[in-house]
Amino acid sequence: MTTDQNWSKDATVYQIWPASYKDSNGDGIGDIPGAISTLDYLKDLGVDIVWLSPMYKSPMEDMGYDISDYQDINPDFGTLQDMQDLIDGCHKRGMKIICDLVINHTSDQHAWFKESRSSLDNPKRDWYIWRKPRYDSEGNRQPPNNWLSYFSGSAWSYDETTDEYYLRLFSHGQPDLNWENEECRQAIYDSALKFWFDKGVDGFRIDTAGLYSKDQSFADAPIVFKDQYYQPSDKYTHTGPRIHEFHKEMYEQIFSKYDIMTVGEVGHCEREEALKYVSAARKEMEMMFLFDIVELGSDDQDRFRYLGWKLKDFKAAIQKQCDFIKGTDAWSTVFIENHDNARCISRFGNDKEYREKSSKLLATLQTTLTGTLFIYQGQEIGMTNLPRSWPIDEYKDINTMNYYKAFKEKCGNDADFKEKEKKLFDIINLVARDHARSPVQWNAEQYAGFSTSEPWMRVNDNYKEINVESQQKDSDSLWSFYKQLLQMRKEYKELFIYGSFEILDYDNEKVFTYVKELSDGKHPKAYVVLNMSDDSVEFKPLIDGDFKLISSNVKAVDYDEKVLTSWESRVYLVN
Ligand code: GLC
Ligand code: CA
Repeated sequence: MTTDQNWSKDATVYQIWPASYKDSNGDGIGDIPGAISTLDYLKDLGVDIVWLSPMYKSPMEDMGYDISDYQDINPDFGTLQDMQDLIDGCHKRGMKIICDLVINHTSDQHAWFKESRSSLDNPKRDWYIWRKPRYDSEGNRQPPNNWLSYFSGSAWSYDETTDEYYLRLFSHGQPDLNWENEECRQAIYDSALKFWFDKGVDGFRIDTAGLYSKDQSFADAPIVFKDQYYQPSDKYTHTGPRIHEFHKEMYEQIFSKYDIMTVGEVGHCEREEALKYVSAARKEMEMMFLFDIVELGSDDQDRFRYLGWKLKDFKAAIQKQCDFIKGTDAWSTVFIENHDNARCISRFGNDKEYREKSSKLLATLQTTLTGTLFIYQGQEIGMTNLPRSWPIDEYKDINTMNYYKAFKEKCGNDADFKEKEKKLFDIINLVARDHARSPVQWNAEQYAGFSTSEPWMRVNDNYKEINVESQQKDSDSLWSFYKQLLQMRKEYKELFIYGSFEILDYDNEKVFTYVKELSDGKHPKAYVVLNMSDDSVEFKPLIDGDFKLISSNVKAVDYDEKVLTSWESRVYLVN
């Protein structure tokens, strides 16, 4: 990996989450041959790089983020040969492909963990994190500390075989690997990395890349949530003492040997700390995701503690993302959806009266920001959140299910349970991961053309209005608009991909205006104005110059220079 390469910086990356993307054999589960059948579609849209979420062998407790064999494919998704065909199919079309690198933990069904749990003196015992129980004053067995799992409850699971607990920051079936153990690290590099580079994979999205190094004190975490016993473990697990040493080692031993890209899912930390991961000179990873936008309105430790947001907060989050690399040698990313977040149109647009217009506005925003652009499956047609009327059992994600279960245990007997439950449902309906996981809506036929039989997760009711086939035929659709915007982004890449970013109306609660400029300050500039409200407002340029409109989500016949109608977006070049 050369850190000044450009192919990954200029690129538009498209994320495929295999279970819900495209089913080829009618078993209701998306698969790799299904993905292969869409490569021309992706190429046509303007995609340069495919990011495939985990397709590895897995018991699917966390939809593939629990890997039981790094060197094999989940049989529901296909075979190693299918995967090779997908890699080759991308390359044949001039596209690249990156995979997910899930190496903070494995599945409890991984051979390494089976060995590790078998006895105290097994050679792989130390490849995972085992600790003795703690006993409370009544003599009851308790987990070794108060760390909270990202999926509710304790972060430790008890294992009878050896009367010890293993650490698993996610679900029971996702034991954390012990990165302190060098032999374990080497096995990870060989199995999860080298194996795939040798098959032609062009890089990785690095899952939970901030969590590998745990503070070896395993001390109790400070109390953040007063209403519960288990507490976020960040202080001891996030960006821990040896994290940069581990990333540097992985870079030196593996990444530096290949022409590849890496993008990290690092999670929250201060800018200065975050920059250490992605500074080109430090040679760890190439770029990382920042979560300020997708977590807007939520507590950053618990998305279901939701308070809402104002346009100013949204602007601040975007400013933070765009300014992240300012004056540094680091590189950045742009994204507003992925498999862990709800649909942007339902969260930041108006998915009712102004569905199409506001989704075009959000597309304009995304394609004009600084960094490598990531688009999530279905985002290009404006897929929405699941209907509010659906009952909780349509939600399949372990995060949502565990949270709801824990809520019922805690509040089930409260007099106002029904009221609390309704409030929680409103929030689940807004921010749960499930919204990104319903099958992609390919056409208006049964099961939205995703499959010929009933899909593993219910198709959103709106597939007849929102689907790929109808949007491809319509030159005014969001899909067509995305295609144009992706071309515009490339045509003026010095402005959109690499340009600086400045907000002109920070305090305006309806309109969001910003300028993208070349680093040398030369003309033209790009002037982007977004009316993020249901009201019409007057349009007045906030800078001087000669304005030339290059994109708008309003048809020419409806366009009135002086009025920004509800959810109208415009991009001008200013000379
Ligand atoms: C990352 C993934 C998420 C998964 C978790 C545990 O956050 O994006 O889907 O649940 O890691 O691997
Ligand atoms: Ca299938």
